[in-house]
Order: sequence, then C-alpha cells, then structure tokens
Amino acid sequence: MVSITEDEKKLLQMATGAMKNAYVLWGFKVGAAVLAEDGKIYVGCNVESWVSGLGICAERCAINHAVLHGNRKIKKLALIVESKCNNNPAPCGACLQYINDFSENSKIKILVAKEKCGKVSFPTVNVKTLEDLLPYPFRK
Ligand code: THU
Repeated sequence: MVSITEDEKKLLQMATGAMKNAYVLWGFKVGAAVLAEDGKIYVGCNVESWVSGLGICAERCAINHAVLHGNRKIKKLALIVESKCNNNPAPCGACLQYINDFSENSKIKILVAKEKCGKVSFPTVNVKTLEDLLPYPFRK
C-alpha cells in the first residue's frame, strides 16, 4: 500500500468529483486534478465526441483549466478512472507530453487511482514521477 499525504488525498478526491461530469459516449469516465503554481487545484474530466480525435482527456482538460486561470506550471497531478476501465490506468502519451510542457520539473508526482463503488480506492493508488512515465520527453 502506497502512503499518500492528506493534500494528495484531497487532490484525488477533487479528481473523483470532476470524473462525475465526464461526457462519455464510447469510453470510460476519467477525472483529473492538478495542483498549480498559485497553490490552487484545477480539475478536468474527459469529454468525448462521436467525431474521432475531437474529444479531450481529463488531464489536458485540467491543465487547460489551470492555464485559463493564469497558471502555466503544475506541481502535481492526480488521475482517477472509473472501475469499468479494465487496464492498469496511466496518462496516455499525448497527456504525458502535455504534462511535460506545463510541469515545474520532471520529478513532479503523478498519482493514479481506480474508482471503487463511487470512492477512490486508496490502496490501489499508484504513485509515479513524470520522469518514470516519460523518460525521453520532447523539448524544443
Ligand atoms: N482518457 C483520458 O481522459 N486520459 C488518459 O490519459 C487516457 C484516456 C480518456 C479518453 C477517452 O475519453 C476515455 O478515456 C477512454 O479511452
């Protein structure tokens, strides 16, 4: 079992709240929360479209939300997927690049959890760094 701080628990709970608003047509619900440079938490959910490629993942939605409020650097990200997702969840490649573009540094923590009966299942929280998940990021 991974130990997480109270602040990290809060980040996961905010991501869980955002997941409820996900607009899902063919996939599963995802929620994200980012801790931004102003110390505030910005959330996002995935929004799907019947037109392939038009939807947005929860992580990029949350980061866009932070940018909209004047934050261009994030310090931590929490992600939650609904229990219907069968795989071990992790941010997709596109989101990892986006997280890299808006991260304070490559050591930022990414917490990933799976929802269980409407609640975050903390024993299944996976804690990685951006560097673990994206060891060779694209930088200009
Ligand atoms: N999705 C996310 O929101 N974040 C990810 O990192 C991976 C995938 C969304 C996209 C789609 O709406 C749903 O999950 C199922 O693939």
